[in-house]
Amino acid sequence: MKVLLVNGSSHTHGTTARALDEMIGVFQAAGVETEVIQLGGSPIADCLQCGKCAELGRCVIDGDGVNAFVEKAKEADGFVFATPTYYAHPSGRIFSFLDRVFFSNSDVFMFKPGAAVAVARRAGTTAALDALNKYFGISQMPVAGSTYWNMVHGRIAVDAEEDLEGLQTMRNLARNMIWMMRCFELGQINGIPYPETEWDAKTNFVR
Ligand SMILES: Cc1cc2nc3c(=O)[nH]c(=O)nc-3n(C[C@H](O)[C@H](O)[C@H](O)COP(=O)(O)O)c2cc1C
Repeated sequence: MKVLLVNGSSHTHGTTARALDEMIGVFQAAGVETEVIQLGGSPIADCLQCGKCAELGRCVIDGDGVNAFVEKAKEADGFVFATPTYYAHPSGRIFSFLDRVFFSNSDVFMFKPGAAVAVARRAGTTAALDALNKYFGISQMPVAGSTYWNMVHGRIAVDAEEDLEGLQTMRNLARNMIWMMRCFELGQINGIPYPETEWDAKTNFVR
């Protein structure tokens, strides 16, 4: 069982990484493999809406981690998308990254649990979380919850140590994801079919 955790910060050891570390501790104690995808400081291109991914099955822009992530995602059982809050929204780099991941390959994520995490010095986390949760909702991904909204506060990583409830929320979130992944695995073993999905209706007109 494996969870991929996307860190949408440029800081490898920033507040977002600190929040994810709290989850990773719980995952690893339960024998769940983890891998952090660090988006880092290099540019990540925005989606061009060129439509080539529909033909190619991958994004036409190569080399900035999007297609490599999709390949890893095919083998993963759960996902955490974590971001610093920038002006009450997710970082631009995680938006660009996830737009291209999901526009090219949303079926890879279907029926696998996801969780969004936002960190901030002070505020704007709920709006950032709302934006990240949109990727799950449109891709038939069950969303894991916790004992508070999935946020940790701190301007820098060391501040997060004082946000005891935030760190507790991360630990409970990881536990809930583990429970969901185990339930889904048992469902598969016991022959519970995935739900049928209808795709035929595409009403593109403006209401
Ligand atoms: C461009 C920019 C905008 C920011 N906007 C907010 C904000 O709206 N609310 C907030 O509380 N913190 C804001 N911050 C602070 C970061 O969210 C905070 O320092 C966070 O801990 C950084 O996480 P990281 O170390 O993982 O990158 C902003 C930081 C930057 C660089």
